[in-house]
Amino acid sequence: MRRSWILLTAASILGTTPALAADADHGADLAERWCASCHVVRSAQTQASADVPSFASIARRPDFSVEKLAFFLLDPHPKMPNFPLSRAEAADIAAYIASLRR
Ligand code: HEC
Repeated sequence: MRRSWILLTAASILGTTPALAADADHGADLAERWCASCHVVRSAQTQASADVPSFASIARRPDFSVEKLAFFLLDPHPKMPNFPLSRAEAADIAAYIASLRR
């Protein structure tokens, strides 16, 4: 229930139609491909850069929001490389990170 609400919110904020609602499983695949060299993307992962926050810890921040995260990914932090992510892919990754917040 809560999860589908998050996905729908991400999709509507990003202007995608509900038919293209964010897909957290796809986001997990993208995160492994693009983010795992620096971030701990899954709890089973044992190696990443020091001083880079894990996705689980990002998801637990009090000010975490799927919308902010998706926009952040489209306009990345200077310390991070630029990713060729589409809006839908950014929403998928944001939905995946949100799913770690438990
Ligand atoms: C080259 C290494 C590198 C890669 C690859 C990388 N990041 Fe980061 N990321 C960082 C670093 C370093 C920080 C911490 C920046 C800081 O604290 O100023 C960070 C911080 C973040 C933050 C927290 C920003 C904040 O508000 O503090 C998020 C969210 C994030 N990364 C998401 C991602 C996602 C999603 C991907 C994959 C698409 C990714 N990162 C790939 C290095 C990386």
